[in-house]
Amino acid sequence: MDVRQTAGLLGRLALEDPGFEHRLSEALERAEKWLQSTAHGSLDPRVAALTGHLADAGGKRLRPLLVLLGAEFGEPWRDGVTQAAVIAELVHIASLYHDDVMDEAETRHGVPSAHARWGERAAVLGGDWLLARAAQLAADLGPGAVHLNAQAAGRLVAGQLRELSGPGPDMDPVTHYFQVTEGKTAALLSMSLGIGALQAGTAAPEVAALTEYGEQLGIAFQIADDLLDLSSPAELTGKQRGKDLLAGVPSLPVVLAREGADPADAELRDLLADGPLAPADADRALALFARSSALTETEAVLRRRLDRAREALRALPPLPARRALHALCDYVALRTS
Ligand code: FPP
Ligand code: MG
Repeated sequence: MDVRQTAGLLGRLALEDPGFEHRLSEALERAEKWLQSTAHGSLDPRVAALTGHLADAGGKRLRPLLVLLGAEFGEPWRDGVTQAAVIAELVHIASLYHDDVMDEAETRHGVPSAHARWGERAAVLGGDWLLARAAQLAADLGPGAVHLNAQAAGRLVAGQLRELSGPGPDMDPVTHYFQVTEGKTAALLSMSLGIGALQAGTAAPEVAALTEYGEQLGIAFQIADDLLDLSSPAELTGKQRGKDLLAGVPSLPVVLAREGADPADAELRDLLADGPLAPADADRALALFARSSALTETEAVLRRRLDRAREALRALPPLPARRALHALCDYVALRTS
């Protein structure tokens, strides 16, 4: 992974505090080197090629950044903070190995997925290996880190299982969407802030504010992704527009369109009624979404989640890290505007 990419996310936050930005950038670089040596750390080169594959492929490194920002509310120089950043990213990368098997994804971060390159069974085991390394690093840090790591991994799996089994006949699909999203996306963002704050010895009320912020930011992130699938050209997202829509992913706009009662959305409701969309209907569905109340409602839910994230920050002291966490909310909002 090119460390310039981590600088990329930092740069996009426009923190206007070069000293703070430089310190974060150096800390991210330390975490990146540790992540790389851990992911490639098997003595067997074939295992190392598999387990290092997605660490090499890149990513925003949002979770390590959140760990470091969470630590800013305590003593960020303490031993264990960098290690916590590595743990959070290892769990994330492990989950992607498994996710690409489940989604039968051919690519991840612009390179062949582990499952495309080594097959399903090896990809699952590669993810397991990384998860085991995260657990080992957490054990070095003590019971608090072990607890947070285990809880986050459990919530991720539970979210994915809920997605797999669907809402069931008696469940409200919108409630189901939020349960899935809390597990799949919010759990690890929240854990990242929590484990960073814990390792830095941050006071309990501030840890609680940070983890609540992470939960809300995580849900907002997923909703923003859902919106991008409907509105953004491939050059911007690296993903074909409407890819999730065609794959039948029950994103929030899709769920709200199916559940809504606006007569103006009737044609869209009909198109979405019988499972995955027919490829021939994709352009029409995207055009209908663009002026649907489902889309307006999704944007409103996104704004409310970002407001809740910002609200959680009010309990924190006005440090540069709090400004950075605000900037992350603006970044999520801007991605979809
Ligand atoms: C990406 O979602 C997937 C996740 C955020 C989590 C996947 C979790 C698991 C597979 C459970 C296993 C977890 C562990 C810890 C081993 P997506 O498919 O909606 O997005 P994408 O477009 O990035 O694939
Ligand atoms: Mg996927």
